[in-house]
Amino acid sequence: SGATGGKTVKVAVTRKLPEPVEARLRDLFDAVFHESDDPLSPAALIERARDADVLAPTLGDRLDAAFFEAVGDRLKLVANFGAGVDHIDVAAANAHGVTVTNTPSVLAEDAADMAMALILAVPRRLVEGVRALEAGEFQGWSPTWMLGRRVRGKKLGIIGLGRVGEAIARRAKAFGLSIHYHNRSPINPHIEDELDATYWDSLDQMLARVDIVSVNCPHTPATFHLLSRRRLELLQPQAYVVNISRGEIVDEEALASMIEEGRLAGAGLDVYERGAPSEKLLKAPNVVLLPHMASATVESRIEMGERMIINIKMFSDGHKPPDRVIL
Ligand code: DGY
Repeated sequence: SGATGGKTVKVAVTRKLPEPVEARLRDLFDAVFHESDDPLSPAALIERARDADVLAPTLGDRLDAAFFEAVGDRLKLVANFGAGVDHIDVAAANAHGVTVTNTPSVLAEDAADMAMALILAVPRRLVEGVRALEAGEFQGWSPTWMLGRRVRGKKLGIIGLGRVGEAIARRAKAFGLSIHYHNRSPINPHIEDELDATYWDSLDQMLARVDIVSVNCPHTPATFHLLSRRRLELLQPQAYVVNISRGEIVDEEALASMIEEGRLAGAGLDVYERGAPSEKLLKAPNVVLLPHMASATVESRIEMGERMIINIKMFSDGHKPPDRVIL
């Protein structure tokens, strides 16, 4: 495979990865690992990337225009471990001759399971029930205690029916929810038929009609605060918001106040605007807050690594990597 193939390719990894992934990287490449599980500082990140052909970052690494400016010309590929690439300035990367790849698909089913878990857990007060029991508040069954809302028959509005959104729709349909979605354009009519899904060109109109909203679009400048206060106010007061995509898509402050004021029924979230949930959100009633774990299965994380390695291998062998991020 010549000068760019085999173990002559230097790959700098920015976080501790699952052991089998690190082992495979070690077999195939001249791989440099980050032993600790803490993210690298911006300066250390630049230093690492400067003398590597490939950088394997995660969502904790901020690769902005200044990074690509500072990093020099050896770096040719950023092979992200993860699907979301909102921490990478892809335009700046490309302008510096750097290709960016990600790892979609492999995590979609596991991520959808977690979204479905939230769709069930929030209306059915699952976490609240567990907490009440642990606090000694359960004295036996009661006809009127811990009543939630029925999930079956409700309308689910999916914002962004891509790989994850579609996997959620399949699950939700089996639970008796009707599927509504908003996308830039309608999906393949066969899949739409199969899911019995209703396309809404207007996000505003969809929001006014659904009972549960699931956020599944990527975070880009165009989707920042897509669920703004104005849009959240279009929802019915008995509606719930579920977000396993990126926190920045929802105005978290507005969401927390509206839940607290009873103008929204609750939320199930895995992602937050500032990495961790705000104080206000932590104190809000009827919320289930997860620590960004929708793709956190042993299987998904290994497959993400395998996918990342395929991208690195294809690219360094001079082929088109399968998951190139196209702007
Ligand atoms: C992703 O892939 O972008 C998730 O947020 C982490 O797996």
